[in-house]
Amino acid sequence: MFLVTGASGQLGRRVVQRLCAQNIPVRAFVRLSSDYDQLRQWGADLYIGDVQNQRDLVKAAQGVRYIIACHGSKISSGQHLAVDYRSSIELIEIAKAIGLEHFTYISALAVTTDRQDSPLLKAKWEVENHLQASGLNYTILRPATLMSSLIPLAVRFQQTGVYLLLGNPEHRIGLVSTDDLAKIALAAPQTPAAYKQTFTVASSQVLYRQDVPQIFGRFFNKQPITINVPQGAVDGAWTMLGLFNAEIKNELGTLRTLLGHECYGQPQEIERMEQTFGLGSENLETFLSRHFNQIEAYD
Ligand SMILES: NC(=O)c1ccc[n+]([C@@H]2O[C@H](COP(=O)([O-])OP(=O)(O)OC[C@H]3O[C@@H](n4cnc5c(N)ncnc54)[C@H](OP(=O)(O)O)[C@@H]3O)[C@@H](O)[C@H]2O)c1
Repeated sequence: MFLVTGASGQLGRRVVQRLCAQNIPVRAFVRLSSDYDQLRQWGADLYIGDVQNQRDLVKAAQGVRYIIACHGSKISSGQHLAVDYRSSIELIEIAKAIGLEHFTYISALAVTTDRQDSPLLKAKWEVENHLQASGLNYTILRPATLMSSLIPLAVRFQQTGVYLLLGNPEHRIGLVSTDDLAKIALAAPQTPAAYKQTFTVASSQVLYRQDVPQIFGRFFNKQPITINVPQGAVDGAWTMLGLFNAEIKNELGTLRTLLGHECYGQPQEIERMEQTFGLGSENLETFLSRHFNQIEAYD
């Protein structure tokens, strides 16, 4: 039995869908407020709870051999201590107690950048360290930005032709197909070469930020109107906000960190990921095409 936390999220639901399609028993951890009907229709066993509640985590992990931890709070939610840090540490401790066979943890590629202003990235870094020291059999996946995160921007672009480009247009960004990440998260427990290893998970397609509206433009056959908010303006607003409200400044720290750095997979890291898991990576155009034509990727 697999336990998938964050099962209603962009990644978690894809992992659950794949497990169900292969008739592998899966318990999907969701909240009462989550959008979970589809998970049940696919055949998942639902556990309704909150990852902040230790009792829920203990009960959800009963009889489980594998955990894929996909839960996470929104980047400006202010819940990083409770949701991203504490609940993940708790889940690792429970995994140790039940003698779990394998733990897949979804971190983030950006943990390797300057984390100082980002409570989210600090939480992920600390959880990685805790898992590495746990004695568990684990795989840590550090994904670049999930392509599914760009879908709301693509939908707005389709309607208006406008793209709001935050940060430096000439910064390189890494993306990963959310379906490729789901495949890898599932393959990890069955891939001995991935045990006790940490992987960058990114498409080999590295883009400049300014490439995204151009790709949308070609895809929707629309001339893009790009509005750029430069990094200096983001930094200025962040500093100003901090003078009035330190909490908001703290919450926006991750966004500023992500915008302030180039963050993409190095070719040798991508090659290692592709070789270990035996798959190539999808590019943004194909991902958009599948999404907007409702074609699901299955192998
Ligand atoms: N999106 C990206 O570009 C990106 C990049 C790098 C790393 N990551 C990491 O990859 C993982 C998956 O990302 P994603 O984009 O799939 O995230 P997502 O769509 O925001 O999903 C997050 C999931 O966590 C659940 N969750 C949040 N708080 C919870 C709580 N207190 N109790 C129980 N469940 C809770 C959410 O439930 P609800 O549906 O009820 O909200 C949702 O199912 C996360 O750890 C994220 O940090 C994401």
